[in-house]
Amino acid sequence: MSGAGSIPSMEGSHQAMEKNTVIVVLGASGDLAKKKTFPALFTLFRQGHLPADVHIVGYARTKMDPEEFHKREISYIKTPKEGDDSVDDFNTKLEEFKKISTYIAGSYDEDPGFLALEEELKRIEDKYEDKKEGNNRFFYMALPPSVFITVAQGLKKNNYTPAPGINRVVVEKPFGKDLDSSREMMKDLKAEWTEDETFRIDHYLGKEMIKNLLVLRFGNMFLDSSFNKNYVSNVQITFKEAIGTEGRGGYFDGFGIIRDVCQNHLLQALSVLTMERPVSFSAEDIRDEKVKVLRCVPPIEQKDTLLGQYTAANGKPGYLEDDTVPKGSNCPTFAETVLFINNPRWEGVPFIMKAGKALNEAKVEIRVQYKDVTSGIFKDIARNELVIRIQPSEAIYMKMNAKTPGLVTRAMPTELDLTYKRRFADTIIPEAYEALILDAIKGDHSNFVRDDELDAAWKIFTPILHWIEGKGPGPAPKPQPYPYGSRGPKNVDTFIESYGFKRSDQGYSWPLTNMGHL
Ligand code: BG6
Repeated sequence: MSGAGSIPSMEGSHQAMEKNTVIVVLGASGDLAKKKTFPALFTLFRQGHLPADVHIVGYARTKMDPEEFHKREISYIKTPKEGDDSVDDFNTKLEEFKKISTYIAGSYDEDPGFLALEEELKRIEDKYEDKKEGNNRFFYMALPPSVFITVAQGLKKNNYTPAPGINRVVVEKPFGKDLDSSREMMKDLKAEWTEDETFRIDHYLGKEMIKNLLVLRFGNMFLDSSFNKNYVSNVQITFKEAIGTEGRGGYFDGFGIIRDVCQNHLLQALSVLTMERPVSFSAEDIRDEKVKVLRCVPPIEQKDTLLGQYTAANGKPGYLEDDTVPKGSNCPTFAETVLFINNPRWEGVPFIMKAGKALNEAKVEIRVQYKDVTSGIFKDIARNELVIRIQPSEAIYMKMNAKTPGLVTRAMPTELDLTYKRRFADTIIPEAYEALILDAIKGDHSNFVRDDELDAAWKIFTPILHWIEGKGPGPAPKPQPYPYGSRGPKNVDTFIESYGFKRSDQGYSWPLTNMGHL
């Protein structure tokens, strides 16, 4: 990348896997692999982003013949519409994708499976012509946490390729359940794989608008200079889903919404939003700044937490009616928690995280609400808000006041609007997993979670998680009920208002809200 607007140190100073590469997907028959990993790999393959002569090997316990594996591998890949120009190319590439994909069945805790995998890897690598460069192995662990470490050990023992080949392992949350269990897990992982070889995915870091935050903040003088306690009243980071835990209740109950979404996805958004300007855009410089800001966040206090659990409504079942959920579970499916950053830039500004399942809409956004304009010439003028819509339909808009057009001199709230589908109509925004897998293949760690970052994140959340689970101090809280499809527990608004958020009462609604087609 060069020329206007280029970001020099984001250019690849890393060791990329360019050829002789096998991508091994462990947990190949599971949901994550089918829904996210394989579709992302296919798109990258189709667009020519994967290394030359790449091979893909699926690995899981289920015995399957190649046909069955291919059926599962492509089951979630979206086919272009009939008549679309790209159908022929898609079909050709899909056949090629199946040809480069094989499957090995084996257990996660015994050597024979890994040895069978090794045989398959050798069979593929024997055909690579360039013998000087070594062979690269990219292990993607789409696995439940219970087998995580045994697989990492099995791979290291049986399938580690010698230098100059490169080994990489991609792992995904949950990374433990609290500070201690996370440290334990990371210690075991580190005994086998170096930090440089490890890529901890938080897929929110692959989302376009989260990646955009760095440029948005540090590439715009007017934003950068107003991002501090002198101008910002409060910040909301909101994650809303319109469906419940349907089908995942059993898994979810062991974690709850705070571990599922806040401690990782929303905290990552917060750290990129609030960190100081990094010395460069290199992975370590960025991650150093993220860790620094996270270390300024004290553990969340009980009084700054509002919990909820959805109940049956609108023909939909309540959380407790899910057969996989233990009777009488107190697991929160909704949480509002407030974080503070004790550094000179942000001291006293509440960062309100809101996350919930079975709400009235599906939306993820960051809302930076500025302070009131000094009173005097204006009475009751709306606050500025910078809204970064992460999904659906990426957008950035700034709510600002302007004179009502015409022969009146009255201020009205309006907006500066950068809606991606309108401004970048022909650009396809990559899926988070596509962006992240490609980064890991290139060896770029910028959008992956470093070990000390994970540690800092758990320190912030562990005390309230323990309290919710009845480990004190004080009795465990009971989440407040809210009807499926509602905006959350009944005091959801008074809660955020108590931290300074002001709802504009001038009937403003962002135009996009009413534009279903976007
Ligand atoms: C996952 C959570 O990490 O993120 C899910 O476990 C959640 O509960 C999902 O639904 C949200 O991801 P996305 O990309 O759909 O916003």
